[in-house]
Amino acid sequence: CVLVLCWFYVFPGYRLPGDKEIVAEVLRQGEAWHRNQTGIDLYRRLLTECCDPPKMFAVTKRNSPLGKVMWYDGEFYHSHTVNNETYRLFVQDNPLQLPLKKCAVVGNGGILRASKCGKDIDQADFIMRCNLPPLSEEYLEDVGTKTHLVTANPSIIENRFQSLLWSRKHFVDSIKVYGTSYIYMPAFSMRPGTEPSLRAYYALADTSSNLTVLFANPEFLRTVGKFWKARNVHAKRLSTGLFMVSLALALCEEVTVYGFWPFAIDLDEQPVSHHYYDNILPYKWFHTMPEEFVQLWHLHKSGTLRMRVGRCS
Ligand code: CDP
Repeated sequence: CVLVLCWFYVFPGYRLPGDKEIVAEVLRQGEAWHRNQTGIDLYRRLLTECCDPPKMFAVTKRNSPLGKVMWYDGEFYHSHTVNNETYRLFVQDNPLQLPLKKCAVVGNGGILRASKCGKDIDQADFIMRCNLPPLSEEYLEDVGTKTHLVTANPSIIENRFQSLLWSRKHFVDSIKVYGTSYIYMPAFSMRPGTEPSLRAYYALADTSSNLTVLFANPEFLRTVGKFWKARNVHAKRLSTGLFMVSLALALCEEVTVYGFWPFAIDLDEQPVSHHYYDNILPYKWFHTMPEEFVQLWHLHKSGTLRMRVGRCS
């Protein structure tokens, strides 16, 4: 209750539309979408100025030399000083061939279920996914098969793979589905996440995996957080999906996002699950996905990126 009062005190007049209002707004807009090169250029410039994504999105030998102090972005007063053990795990430089052409950012929203967006997604030149999502047979028609970059939060390594303290085979086998993609890990965001992330690195390196580990640069995550804070996203931390969209806006010529729909009802006002594979809700005060959606919807309406929230065919 105190939190709610503070909220209205700090952001007077701020009111997030309800689920039904969002549905009505999306239906009013319909399928119409017009690419706006000026908007695309503007966001690429703004994000480049604030956060320098091409150089900074991953920890590299170039931006994080030996002795560099990296401040964790997810907690105060903790840092990691790059040492011989960590330095050798970093890629030399940004490994992506820029600019990327058509990018698809795939969130995990339940709206993807029965969307038949798989073919559309697979047609993109660069496909980003969040949090090692399932790509099993039953989902392929809706979410596609290809991946070029997939994020992996340390909490997934801890919860789904027992922090890799026991068998690593289950982890190594289950990420084969992402082919030769980059696996993007925020290893330096929260201190407890560093060890499981490094274990994931070694599990892959020791088995000559086809995936390349990129550690998310905490400086980049912090500056992207500030960028959206200045644009009405007041979350304690941005959702993984918004980090990915920000990256895509800076690196890609064209961005389409799928599976971003943090609402309880779909466009037919029928209940929709939070994820396309389960209905586990996020921790309430951590992310504010509906606020993020509103910002992404502005970008959709201005032709800066395209959001797909209905069926693709
Ligand atoms: O780690 P996090 O809880 O942020 O993400 P997730 O639940 O694994 O989903 C990946 C991303 O999809 C989120 O970070 C959101 O940006 C987006 N998402 C959404 O917009 N609506 C949903 N119902 C679920 C996820």
